[in-house]
Amino acid sequence: MSSKVIFLLALLCVSLSPAPAAAHRPRFLAGVTGDALVQKACRGVGKYEPECLKILRATDKLDKGDSMDLAFFTLRYVESHAYNLTVEIKKAAAEPDLGPMFQSALAECMEQYIPLDDLVEDGINAMLAEANSDSRDFIDAAITSMDICDGQLQSSYEEEKADKETKSDSSPDFQIAEALKQHNEFLRAMLKAALNIIN
Ligand SMILES: *[C@@H]1O[C@H](CO)[C@@H](O)[C@H](O)[C@H]1NC(C)=O
Repeated sequence: MSSKVIFLLALLCVSLSPAPAAAHRPRFLAGVTGDALVQKACRGVGKYEPECLKILRATDKLDKGDSMDLAFFTLRYVESHAYNLTVEIKKAAAEPDLGPMFQSALAECMEQYIPLDDLVEDGINAMLAEANSDSRDFIDAAITSMDICDGQLQSSYEEEKADKETKSDSSPDFQIAEALKQHNEFLRAMLKAALNIIN
């Protein structure tokens, strides 16, 4: 292989790597690397802590001990998961026989998920610009938007339960709501992991 080809391949690899190269990059949690970094990120994020550890351990970023790469990976993961979730919500909303209050809760969740992507993106950009406190604010706002979705799901659950004695916890509304709440909790856990790194 000619050195020119090798050079181009190397360039391609660099351009495909997930974190954009910054001239000089801040190191969060200076001195914490590898598995200790992952443990620090996932500590105290809630019941999805084991899942958090599993996901972050599975990245190929760890041996470099680069906390910024890990925060970047975590936020990108949240974006991807949140996007996938909007696809699921759209499918769920098409189910027949959903209660009207639950349908409006789903619509509200969609409205929260769309800006979520922008908030996380803004969080990433602020982090890359070393504006850590801005970055934290964006991530906090993303967490709040999931809280709003949860609140809507919860109140639709209560209203429908009060409204229709016949609706049971096994009805599709409640199953979808429960699944969505679990997803929200998982995403919040991953956002908290990013905050643990940036803080
Ligand atoms: C989102 O869905 C795509 C396509 O199915 C999948 O490759 C990706 O891993 C999913 N993202 C997450 C974070 O689960």
